[in-house]
Amino acid sequence: MLLPHLDWKSSKPISLQIQEQIREHLERRSLRVGERLPSTRHLAEALGIHRSTVALAYQELWAQGWIDQRPGSAPRVRARLAQMKSVTVSKKRSFDWEALASPAAKEALGAHRELARNAHREGFINFASLHMDPRLFPVEEFRACLTKAMKKGGESLLTYGDRQGFRPLREFLARRMALHGVETSAEEILITNGSQQGLDLLLRMVAQPGRSIAVESPTYSLFLPLIRLKGLKPLEIPYGEDGMDLSILEEVLKRHRPSLVYTMPNFQNPTGRSASQANREGLLDLCAHHGVPILEDGFEEEMKYFGRVIPPIKAMDRRGLVAYCGSFSKVLFAGVRVGWIVAPVPCIEQLLALRHFSEIMPTMIPHAALHEFCERGLYDLHISRMHRTYRKRMQVALRALKQHVQPEWAQWEEPKGGYLIWLNLKAPGRRKPDWERLFEEQGLQVSPGNLYSPSRNHPSWVRLSISLLDESQIEEGVHRLAAALKQLHEKGAR
Ligand SMILES: Cc1ncc(COP(=O)(O)O)c(C=O)c1O
Repeated sequence: MLLPHLDWKSSKPISLQIQEQIREHLERRSLRVGERLPSTRHLAEALGIHRSTVALAYQELWAQGWIDQRPGSAPRVRARLAQMKSVTVSKKRSFDWEALASPAAKEALGAHRELARNAHREGFINFASLHMDPRLFPVEEFRACLTKAMKKGGESLLTYGDRQGFRPLREFLARRMALHGVETSAEEILITNGSQQGLDLLLRMVAQPGRSIAVESPTYSLFLPLIRLKGLKPLEIPYGEDGMDLSILEEVLKRHRPSLVYTMPNFQNPTGRSASQANREGLLDLCAHHGVPILEDGFEEEMKYFGRVIPPIKAMDRRGLVAYCGSFSKVLFAGVRVGWIVAPVPCIEQLLALRHFSEIMPTMIPHAALHEFCERGLYDLHISRMHRTYRKRMQVALRALKQHVQPEWAQWEEPKGGYLIWLNLKAPGRRKPDWERLFEEQGLQVSPGNLYSPSRNHPSWVRLSISLLDESQIEEGVHRLAAALKQLHEKGAR
């Protein structure tokens, strides 16, 4: 082995210079597996440095797996896995992870890949994603709250903290829920890692072969793989203009007695519809009668910017039948990963135990920062700004649709808030177009309706989301949409 060349003027420590140069030899394989390196004494003498400097370099190479060291003998080059890259692993010989995955896991991977298509593509107008517009994030305000929270909380935020979630934030959330008519307390609240974790925990709690979950059809696409991953069966209940079809639900409750009824009464994903007060009451009565609890997803509770506010079903729950999932993701930002469940204490205790065994506890830092943010009144301020912004954006979208899209091309309803418009597309002939592809050709991303029901029975619907787009992008998007539909119908007429 050539002696390492030492640069005494460099600020890089000598041991690091030795280590890097030997590693280069190893990477280039000018030193072979099993070959001996000079002993620390020999190399130190040859370089005129102290033995401990060489020992430090060898120690690091050993820790990285490049050499073997035994007391009393010179180090040797090790057969490191990374060095064996040249042994190409043939597809036949490599372990088959795909075969190992369960059918439900494979299905989840398929859904995951399908949803990955919602990611923004250069030059496209993205009506597919339900992510919030980062241009509206109150970044500076949140940064100040994070700093303040760390100053206040110090080490208490860095240790295993409150497994149910930062208590002051739970107290804030209890007061916030009271504004929506829900009487609750910090004891009945579990802070989750986004509301998705809340949904997952509730399904985990009831998971048992042979059990089922009643879902709206269409419903939230990321809920369906979760149901199957737990070995549960989804039972579809059509979701109409007024809410869930209660006569079909009644039949299903009688016949199958599902473990939970999953519902999104406000700005339902994907339809953007909201259930009427009468429908909510009817749903609660039916479930109470059959003793089946409700999983209420209030993911956009705060985003009512048109018309009268209708309280969540949880606000009418006098029997502890409703487990409510809330989230900061769709009004503030999703990156803090904070959601919450409001449910009776026995349910919360059960969920807490389940989470304990998968992630021990949530991270307190975002909870404390959010609490600071909310207590300073910044959350209320932000909500007002979001209402002003999205009221306008939604008006622009609805106006543009009315102006440019003819009723024989597509139909839609006007949502009372949120970000979603559910578009029913009409084809000119009998042939069913590939709607997603058709819009892609015009530089437009939309979310296909079939993603939203287990039986994939919404092939001529698409979900439009305006969450990421400003007014001019929305106008441009609707123009592209109308152009695609016009072209299709003109071709059909020929
Ligand atoms: C209906 C619905 N519920 C729950 C969630 C999960 O949101 P998060 O985990 O970010 O709170 C989403 C996310 O898009 C959603 O659309």
